[in-house]
Amino acid sequence: MIKINGNYLKLQASYLFSEIAGRVAAFQKANPEKEMIKLGIGDVTRSLPGACISAFHSAVDEMATDEAFRGYGPEQGYPFLRDKIAEIDFKSRGAEVSSDEIFISDGAKCDTGNFQEIFSTDTKIAIPDPVYPVYLDTNVMAGRTGIFNNGRYENIIYLDSTMENGFLPDLPEQPADLIYLCFPNNPTGVVANKAVLKSWVDYARENRSIILFDAAYEAFITDDNIPHSIYEIEGAREVAVEFRSFSKSAGFTGTRCAFTVVPKDCMAYDTGGNSHSLHALWNRRHSTKFNGVSYPVQRAAEAVYSEEGSRQAKDLVDFYMKNAAIIKEEISNLGYKCAGGDHSPYIWIWGEMDSWDFFDLLLNRAGVVCTPGAGFGACGKGFIRISAFNSLENVKNAMSRIKTTLMK
Ligand code: MLT
Repeated sequence: MIKINGNYLKLQASYLFSEIAGRVAAFQKANPEKEMIKLGIGDVTRSLPGACISAFHSAVDEMATDEAFRGYGPEQGYPFLRDKIAEIDFKSRGAEVSSDEIFISDGAKCDTGNFQEIFSTDTKIAIPDPVYPVYLDTNVMAGRTGIFNNGRYENIIYLDSTMENGFLPDLPEQPADLIYLCFPNNPTGVVANKAVLKSWVDYARENRSIILFDAAYEAFITDDNIPHSIYEIEGAREVAVEFRSFSKSAGFTGTRCAFTVVPKDCMAYDTGGNSHSLHALWNRRHSTKFNGVSYPVQRAAEAVYSEEGSRQAKDLVDFYMKNAAIIKEEISNLGYKCAGGDHSPYIWIWGEMDSWDFFDLLLNRAGVVCTPGAGFGACGKGFIRISAFNSLENVKNAMSRIKTTLMK
């Protein structure tokens, strides 16, 4: 008799964004005349930068000739892309990262979800609350948690991010082996300055822990004093793995391209206390389970680093950030407390009612889809998240509908 991995039975019914999509589809079916505005999942709405499209087309043309055709590429990604990333994303900001420490992949979701595989089952995990659900769910699947009890999984160190601490959690009181951090944060939209990141790096060095640092939203930082990479912090190369994505910074959600940085200085330990290179272990895992991102997609991603491509990608980010400013202003004018939106496409709003009730209210009365904060964890209860990824017209329209619905 085939048996399932019982840890899957500990998972909550469905993945947050699938649950929302299901509720929206049901509502749309019952109300086909209602025009919905989706400010829920952070999915981009504008086309790829022109420079990326040209590079994409040329690479597809290359695949049409026997001379230029490419079969399997290097699992870790083509040097033409890894070199640009190392130079432009890291070295130019004073962060020491070499090309061969970069692993190109098809998404930060997959990488943040998969990375935990190389650590032991008894690894003590620290996870922010609220949090991007992938970090938690993948550890549940791997058997690192107990059951879900009173809104939380047993055996997890939750890092509470609340209004009181400015959504910047304190260092854990007990030793944590693996720490997930995300800045600019999803879902709260807050950023961490150098001092905050340094305290985490120091903690990890003292405890021989590893930080999994999700920087998928770094392109939205508008203040140059805020670090874009954890490697801008001294010592981080020994204790941090960083995840980046072209999804939100250059509109690649449907095209799929991201990368993970695993510095060669990062070590993890076997039961005898001997150190092993995380880079070597991840390389082993990556080359066993992944065959690389397609050549045309990597050429399209490379174009983000051209003069024209970087200007076009920045225009996209600026466009969404103008939407974020409108949302933040309108919501604040309605008398609601909110965070985020200054260095992030997400606005985190204290809704003064149950998150799912607020979600239903906006769905049913305003025809606007948001994300209920409770879906990101117990500390998200009472909040909703509104995303700035949509057209200006839709954002303005959504705000006017929300105003009519919520006017105090
Ligand atoms: C979100 O809305 O939190 C993100 O779009 C989800 C993701 O990137 O997978």
